[in-house]
Amino acid sequence: MKILVTGGAGFIGSNFVYYMLDRYPDDQIVCLDKLTYAGNLSTLESAMRDPRFRFVRGDIADVQAVDALFASERPDAVVNFAAESHVDRSIEDPQIFLVTNILGTQVLMDACRKYGNIRYHQVSTDEVYGDLPLDRPDLMFTETTPIHTSSPYSSSKAGADLLVQAYYRTYGLPITISRCSNNYGPYHFPEKLIPLMISRALADESLPVYGDGKNVRDWLYVEDHCDAIDRILRHGRIGEVYNVGGHNEMSNIDIVKLILRRLGKPESLITYVKDRKGHDLRYAIDPTKIHAELGWLPKTTFADGIVKTIDWYLDNRKWWQDIVSGEYRKDYQRLYAQK
Ligand code: NAD
Ligand code: DAU
Repeated sequence: MKILVTGGAGFIGSNFVYYMLDRYPDDQIVCLDKLTYAGNLSTLESAMRDPRFRFVRGDIADVQAVDALFASERPDAVVNFAAESHVDRSIEDPQIFLVTNILGTQVLMDACRKYGNIRYHQVSTDEVYGDLPLDRPDLMFTETTPIHTSSPYSSSKAGADLLVQAYYRTYGLPITISRCSNNYGPYHFPEKLIPLMISRALADESLPVYGDGKNVRDWLYVEDHCDAIDRILRHGRIGEVYNVGGHNEMSNIDIVKLILRRLGKPESLITYVKDRKGHDLRYAIDPTKIHAELGWLPKTTFADGIVKTIDWYLDNRKWWQDIVSGEYRKDYQRLYAQK
């Protein structure tokens, strides 16, 4: 199978590239990525030495570029990770979220239709369901929970999901959608909670906790998300949505304190700052459907995953320090010149 992975230079997409190259020796992967601030080509450095992998710089919302890529590569399947993914940035400047997350999805699906009804998987998010109250631990998101978004980011992802479902119903495009909870693990860009707190704590900088720190997220180790997408792509029912999450709810402040303890840093680094606008209180996924239909269960506990993740940031300081300093923007010239 030849799989077009969009957004493969980002956090989850790059983990997915490595996951698939490791498991499927006969598959080929083409990665299409615009290399926005969130894309880092050094993350794909070892994949680029693999003859089964090809990197192409391009924008999923660019009709001509996407058409030319489909014409030359003729992929069997598309897994769309490419997105503007940071809620805080969407609050500052929504427009690019609508262009990439909604129009980009449309452009990819039109190419799938044109080049032979190609299998299409949309990587979505639990944020399309809005949030849950903190005092009702019995409530969780199922696939039938109504869409009810809070931020421009989650609204753009929800818009894309609706469009994907419309392409199934209207054109019969063979689609699936996964809605996953918060991921953590290697190659996570240090603007998101866990890598931001690790990198700042290591530099003895203040750790900005929004509001009272009691908001809850449902954390999943990134490799378990890759496993879920792989199962859905190969065995999922066409036209279906699958929720992905590991029953691992944690408040932000508990995560920050855990990171500080593991790094031997003082809690005095914690600084409570102004809350995020429209801040979702709690996310919690009910993964019954993917477990029952596809046998998926998370393999990594949070206790193990967070230690592996912190150790990865300790062992790979150059990766995130280059991001903090801006040095990583030069990797395109350096790595791409080798191709
Ligand atoms: P990320 O921000 O780390 O990576 C996004 C990647 O997409 C980057 O490499 C970027 O260069 C690329 N990109 C952005 N705009 C593009 C465009 N127009 N054309 C081509 N490439 C473009 O994001 P992530 O955290 O890895 O998230 C990947 C996907 O998973 C997103 O769709 C996100 O909504 C979804 N998701 C993320 C999480 C999470 O916890 N991070 C959870 C559930 C779902
Ligand atoms: O639930 C899935 C979503 O998880 C994905 O769809 C998004 O792409 C991904 O970015 C993530 O969204 P969140 O907003 O939950 O993640 P973030 O890491 O930005 O924030 C996690 C929590 O930590 C949230 O309650 C806000 C809080 N926070 C975040 C930052 C960056 C802080 O308290 N301080 C911070 O500096």
